[in-house]
Amino acid sequence: MIEMIIDTYTSENLMLKNSKPTHPAQFPVTIRRVDQTDVALIDEMHNRVSKESLYYRFLGPKKTNIDSLRCLCIDKTTSKVVLVATVQEPMEKVVALGYFMVNQENPTTAEPALLVEDRYQGCGIGKRIIKEMCSQAVKMGIETFDIFVDPSNYPMRHLIQRSGLRYESKFNNGLSDIRVWLHPNGRVYS
Ligand SMILES: CC(C)(COP(=O)(O)OP(=O)(O)OC[C@H]1O[C@@H](n2cnc3c(N)ncnc32)[C@H](O)[C@@H]1OP(=O)(O)O)[C@@H](O)C(=O)NCCC(=O)NCCS
Repeated sequence: MIEMIIDTYTSENLMLKNSKPTHPAQFPVTIRRVDQTDVALIDEMHNRVSKESLYYRFLGPKKTNIDSLRCLCIDKTTSKVVLVATVQEPMEKVVALGYFMVNQENPTTAEPALLVEDRYQGCGIGKRIIKEMCSQAVKMGIETFDIFVDPSNYPMRHLIQRSGLRYESKFNNGLSDIRVWLHPNGRVYS
């Protein structure tokens, strides 16, 4: 089951679609807002993730370090939403990070980023984080997400295609430059 705990927002239980044989049929995952105690846990996750996933996330070498993660998790000056998915194994581990930052020049647009640790990919965590990001973004007046995706990143392209949202994709410098129009109710994957 995925247990949703996002600040004071919704809390709900979802069935994980478990495609990885390394997992038990169901396991609890908490998806919540990031806090400053997550900095080290996110750094550890980046160190566990495969080179391929890091490449798809950063479209090149890893671009974060402990200082940039501190800034991401603690700095309140940038308009953003940062979510983590955690499991108890048995200590708490961050297994996914999703966030978006509002484009300062065009505040109706934001750029989202998402990374799910390899062992937990294909279980529905990415989809659930995107759902929450869309819902939060619409509440903040954001109308579109701009996403750069490597054309060979089938899982991410599939996630966008299945979202039910209108999108346009352009080929730009070897990447898919995708603009997604959020639903005014924040609805996605319905
Ligand atoms: C892309 C990514 C975020 C998807 O997250 P996830 O938690 O694995 O995705 P979900 O389990 O929510 O799956 C959502 C859909 O994608 C499909 N999917 C996920 N991984 C897949 C894979 N490896 N192959 C085929 N389909 C896949 C699922 O079957 C599901 O489709 P469905 O709802 O039609 O059944 C994750 O794979 C990841 O972190 N990849 C590396 C970093 C990255 O690419 N970030 C995005 C940069 S733009």
